[in-house]
Amino acid sequence: MRNRPKRRWRATSPRPRKTRQAKPPPKAADAEAAPSEGAPVEEASAGPDPELVAAGERVFKKCAACHQVGENATNRSGPKLNGIVGRTAGTVEGFRYSGAMEEAGANGLVWDHESLAGFLADPRGYMKGTKMSFAGLRSEEDIAAITAFLEAQGE
Ligand code: HEC
Repeated sequence: MRNRPKRRWRATSPRPRKTRQAKPPPKAADAEAAPSEGAPVEEASAGPDPELVAAGERVFKKCAACHQVGENATNRSGPKLNGIVGRTAGTVEGFRYSGAMEEAGANGLVWDHESLAGFLADPRGYMKGTKMSFAGLRSEEDIAAITAFLEAQGE
C-alpha cells in the first residue's frame, strides 16, 4: 500500500479508491492455539497419602477414649468425627458442645488443616473454655497424620 501524500478531498468528491483495503478476516484458529495456561498440574487432589492415613489411624488411639469415627460412629463423651475436615466447628447433631465451641462455630470456625493443627496441638490454649480435656498432640507429624486419617473418613 503506497502512501500518497494526503489530500483533502472535497466533500463532493467521491473517494476514488477503495480497493486493496480489505484486511484478511481474523483467524478464529488463534484462540484455539493458546495453550491451556493455568491448568492445575499438582497431584495434591489425588487424596491423602495412604501411609499418612495409616499413621493417623494409630494416632487416633489417643482420641478413641472420647471419639468415634467411621460407619457406625456415635457421639460419646466427644462428638463423632466423621467428615470433620471441612465442617463448621460444633455442628455434629445431637452432641452437647461447650458454649465456647458453639460460639467458635457461630463465628465461622471451620475445621481445616490449619485450625485442626492449632486446636489439636493445644485444645485449651486454642479455644478457651472447650470441654475437650485433652493435653494436645506434641508432634507435628502426629497432627498431620491424624488430619489425613480424619480427612479419609467419609461423612
Ligand atoms: C478426654 C476426651 C477427649 C479426647 C481424648 C479427645 N477429645 Fe476431641 N473432643 C472432646 C470433647 C468433649 C469435645 C467437644 C468440645 C467442646 O464442646 O468444647 C471434642 C471436640 C473435638 C473436635 C471438634 C469437633 C466438632 O464437632 O467441632 C475435634 C476436631 C476433636 N475433638 C478432635 C480430637 C482428636 C483428633 C483427638 C485425638 C488426638 C481428640 N479430639 C481427643 C473430647 C476428647
